[in-house]
Order: sequence, then structure tokens, then C-alpha cells
Amino acid sequence: MTAMIHAEQVTKSFGHHEVLRGIDLTVEAGEVCCLLGPSGSGKSTFLRCVNHLETVSSGRLRVDGQLVGYRESHGRLHELRPREIAARRRDIGMVFQRFNLFPHLSAAANIMEAPMRVRGVSKTDARQQALALLDRVGLADRAEAYPATLSGGQQQRVAIARALAMRPKLMLFDEPTSALDPELVGDVLDVMRSLAAEGMTMVVVTHEMGFAREVADTVVFMDGGVVVEAGQPGQVLVAPREERTRGFLAKVL
Ligand SMILES: Nc1ncnc2c1ncn2[C@@H]1O[C@H](COP(=O)(O)OP(=O)(O)OP(=O)(O)O)[C@@H](O)[C@H]1O
Ligand SMILES: [Mg+2]
Repeated sequence: MTAMIHAEQVTKSFGHHEVLRGIDLTVEAGEVCCLLGPSGSGKSTFLRCVNHLETVSSGRLRVDGQLVGYRESHGRLHELRPREIAARRRDIGMVFQRFNLFPHLSAAANIMEAPMRVRGVSKTDARQQALALLDRVGLADRAEAYPATLSGGQQQRVAIARALAMRPKLMLFDEPTSALDPELVGDVLDVMRSLAAEGMTMVVVTHEMGFAREVADTVVFMDGGVVVEAGQPGQVLVAPREERTRGFLAKVL
């Protein structure tokens, strides 16, 4: 079976600054992978590479068997054109710390926008799907609400619904609860928990150790642009093998 994400010795440099220094990582379909690590360790950069927002400098990065940013034919690599990159990015949902909803559109309209514009879904079908997704994230009664009238946690749940509307095969979350007041975190984590239970493949950068412990199949600890340690949560979070992992956990737990 093809892994959903397969990274082999992936590096990424910005000028002379090598931010990813040989990432090896595999995420199987249906797996939840929680990515931990100190600030600046390259977590967001790695997610951005997976989502084709950055191209890797060297190494091989495959999503669902396809090289990110390149097409392989007759053993040679050809850079993808912007249109091909956009087409591949559609299959990947991304949720950021800041929700980035369109402020001038209602919750439902935020969710309807991409399916209508990008996938050519009719307005009626897009609306029906949006209402079903809002129901799924616990916001059935807020379809007509504008983002400014929603709490941060509600906005983030709309952002998750918006990503799901494209029927992604992979969801990336970059600190989805870090900008939220503590009492709003739980509802967002509940939505992510139910997504995981339904079998969605997810990579989640998070500082929520309870969530990682409970939901992750694999916990990956990154530092200095490399994977220091990866394994089951019960191992990495409870009995880490590496000194650097232990030091990090001592600070966040
Ligand atoms: N577009 C860019 N141009 C130059 N440097 C960048 C760029 N994006 C990221 N970096 C640098 O790469 C390093 C890793 O950043 P990244 O955002 O991936 O870390 P992170 O692990 O997500 O950190 P945090 O926990 O603070 O979000 C940082 O030193 C950052 O300054
Ligand atoms: Mg980051």
C-alpha cells in the first residue's frame, strides 16, 4: 500500500539557512500523526512542503505516491506547472492557527466558495453540503453568521468544515488551537477527534499533549530540522529514548 506521506531525506533552505536538514517520515493512510517540537524546528515549513506551498530543496517528498512539485517520467523529474500544483493541492486540506475565513461571507458561504469555484459544484449542492458540514462541526444553527460574530473556536470549526468541503484525502493542522481561549479549545479538539475516528489521515502540529496522547497513532518529535524521535504516543511521550525529547517534554508537560 502507498503511504499518504513519504519523506526521504527532505531538506529545505531559505537562502543559506537550512531549515529542514534531512527529514525522514512516513504517514500511512488513515493515520493521525502529531508533530511536536520547539519553535523554529521546522514544523510549519514541513507542512508547507507537504501542501506544495514550498518546494523541497533536496530529497524526495511523496504525497499519495506522487512527488511534491515534480512529475516523474522515464526516470527524470520535471517541475510541475502552477496549474498542476493547484490541482494536487486541492486534495489536501489545511487548517492554520489563524482561521483566515472570508470576513464578508457567512459561515455557509465560506464553505460553499471553493467547491463552487474550483470543483464546479452547483450552488444548491454546495449549500446542502455546507449545512451538513456545519452540523458535523456542531454549528448547524450558525450558517448565516458572519465570522466577526463567531467566537474563535466557532471560526476554527468553520475553517475545518471549509477544508472538508473539498473532500481532501489528507488534512494538515498547524497549531489549530493555539490562538484560542482555553475554554474554546475542547470543541475544536472534539471535531478533530471525530475526524480521526472516521479514518481521516491527519498531520497535526500541536502543543496539546493530551490530544496527542489520546488520538495520535504516531508522535514525531522534531528539533533543528530533523526528526529526533518518532513512535507510538505511549513511547515518545511517556518513555522518550532521546535526551532532546525528554528536555522538550519537561518544558511543555
Ligand atoms: N519563508 C521563509 N523565509 C526565510 N526563513 C523562513 C521562512 N519560513 C520559515 N523560515 C525560518 O525557518 C525556521 C523554521 O520555521 P518554522 O516556521 O517551520 O518553525 P516551526 O517549528 O513551525 O516554529 P513555531 O513553533 O514557532 O511555529 C525559522 O528559523 C524561520 O525563521
Ligand atoms: Mg509553526
